[in-house]
Amino acid sequence: MIAPDSLRELPLQGVAIRPLLPGDLVRVQEIERLSHSHPWSESVFLDCFQDNYRLWALAREEQVLGYAIVNYMVDEAHLLNICIHPDIRGCGAGRYLLRHALAEAAHDGMAMMILEVRESNQGAAALYLSEGFEEIGRRPGYYPNGATRETARVMSLRFT
Ligand SMILES: CC(C)(COP(=O)(O)OP(=O)(O)OC[C@H]1O[C@@H](n2cnc3c(N)ncnc32)[C@H](O)[C@@H]1OP(=O)(O)O)[C@@H](O)C(=O)NCCC(=O)NCCS
Repeated sequence: MIAPDSLRELPLQGVAIRPLLPGDLVRVQEIERLSHSHPWSESVFLDCFQDNYRLWALAREEQVLGYAIVNYMVDEAHLLNICIHPDIRGCGAGRYLLRHALAEAAHDGMAMMILEVRESNQGAAALYLSEGFEEIGRRPGYYPNGATRETARVMSLRFT
């Protein structure tokens, strides 16, 4: 019999993190459209394939199930996008990917990670807070939201 704890782990079996490649973008766009009211376009993703970015894919075999995009500016790592396929949310994949991005940023000499999250996105905010992020401010009207705009919570986590 399988213990409840390992059942929860099961969807992550065989999952690994590797650099995201331009060839992944068709699949990434699929996940992006399933996940966001205002998905990033392919050209926005393509602009991130530069030296001062880290692009991570969470994949099982060759199938991408999630991704994280991080921009490095001086000693600040800015988490621009993190997304997990809706079918495997709630199984720890988001936390696993976030921890990887944090560990790599610290390893690359960054002093902190900063991010914005929609005020309404309580799930993502709960993840960040539980990893030690603190809210350091708000940016009113930061996000498009139909005919109106939505406030962003700005959060940061210092590594040292
Ligand atoms: C945010 C996201 C990346 C989290 O990934 P995930 O794989 O579902 O998250 P995990 O299973 O690793 O959960 C980690 C923690 O996040 C929080 N969390 C995740 N989803 C939640 C939800 N729907 N409601 C409340 N808390 C939630 C919990 O604190 C959870 O910890 P717990 O399981 O110990 O309670 C994922 O929901 C997603 O891709 N959302 C759409 C895109 C998005 O909103 N990205 C963030 C933009 S800032």
